[in-house]
Amino acid sequence: MQQVVVSAFGDIDTLTLTAVPTPEPAADEVLIQLTSIGMNHADLMARRGEYRLVTGEPPFTPGLEGGGVIVQVGAAVRNRSVGQRVILTLDAPASRGLGRGTYQSHYAIAADKTIPVPDEIPDELIGALWLPYLTAWGCLVWRQNLQPDQLVLVPAASSSVAIAASQVIQQQGGTAIGTTTSPDKVERLQAMPEAQYDHIVVTNHPKWWRDVKKITSGNGCDVIFDPVAAGDFLNHEIRLLAQGGTLWVYGLLGQPGVVDVTPLIRKDAAIRGWLLNQIAASPIAEEAYQHVLQQVAQGHYQLPVAQIFPLSEVKAAHAAMAQGQHIGKLILQP
Ligand SMILES: NC(=O)c1ccc[n+]([C@@H]2O[C@H](COP(=O)([O-])OP(=O)(O)OC[C@H]3O[C@@H](n4cnc5c(N)ncnc54)[C@H](OP(=O)(O)O)[C@@H]3O)[C@@H](O)[C@H]2O)c1
Repeated sequence: MQQVVVSAFGDIDTLTLTAVPTPEPAADEVLIQLTSIGMNHADLMARRGEYRLVTGEPPFTPGLEGGGVIVQVGAAVRNRSVGQRVILTLDAPASRGLGRGTYQSHYAIAADKTIPVPDEIPDELIGALWLPYLTAWGCLVWRQNLQPDQLVLVPAASSSVAIAASQVIQQQGGTAIGTTTSPDKVERLQAMPEAQYDHIVVTNHPKWWRDVKKITSGNGCDVIFDPVAAGDFLNHEIRLLAQGGTLWVYGLLGQPGVVDVTPLIRKDAAIRGWLLNQIAASPIAEEAYQHVLQQVAQGHYQLPVAQIFPLSEVKAAHAAMAQGQHIGKLILQP
């Protein structure tokens, strides 16, 4: 089988594709031939050595999600069969230990760490659904309990997580205000049926926050779903929170800097953190998986796919993600 290995922390040249023996599944395991590996910003951070909690030291294999077809079942497995299409659960890669991620053609994993997939969802998407939809749904619906008519600010509007959030917000009856750092992406986003923003604001100038103030009639945003969360941008976001509003931090794309939290006091507002791993560890995990699968199967959630790369082109895929011209999800296909 083929396996991507990061040989040392660093740039794309540290990614190598190697042939290794295909594992035999243990008694409680299945062997999956992966047809889809969702790429995430975290994979770049892992390669650079900025996310060692998940990878440990090199050599390691990156990758947080994946799905495919079962090609072999262990002797004790009763509830899965050869030919069945499954997605790895959120905690599946971590359950195998540090740095044993999904960037490979085959994956041996305990059968109870797989979720069967409805026929309507194509092979190339099944390993790329959890991170966008569970990050967005888990935060906005499960944790935030988003209400109809609430206004949500969604920075990094072109990322797959943000676009998934726009769909979740529409489904809840809210209003989605996307922000993007890239003026050239606005028309592309407006033309994409998947990107369900009611408004898109460009933030590449210092007074961008005025546009958001105007859209919200001066009242600010009830919720901010933010992967930037640093420096001057965060200062403006805190000022854009409505009375009683909540800013959820789920990524750190921005450059850290000094932040003035004073407005939180008079607004009775909050900044909270969100990591989707909380879903895997909670009793709602199965409900969350089934929600996403049903919504995707019925066409209510539409994964925005930017590009699908063969696994052998993993270096080009990492370079594309780092360049940031993409809109939506980048997927590797073994
Ligand atoms: N907490 C969790 O559980 C969780 C789960 C999944 C992902 N995440 C986080 O979600 C974020 C997006 O992930 P992804 O895989 O979808 O990434 P991605 O595809 O690489 O998207 C990144 C987008 O963020 C925007 N951006 C990049 N640098 C920025 C900066 N310095 N300031 C403002 N915006 C910036 C750009 O969008 P524009 O051009 O539109 O501005 C860029 O296209 C990452 O921070 C990731 O770590 C967190």
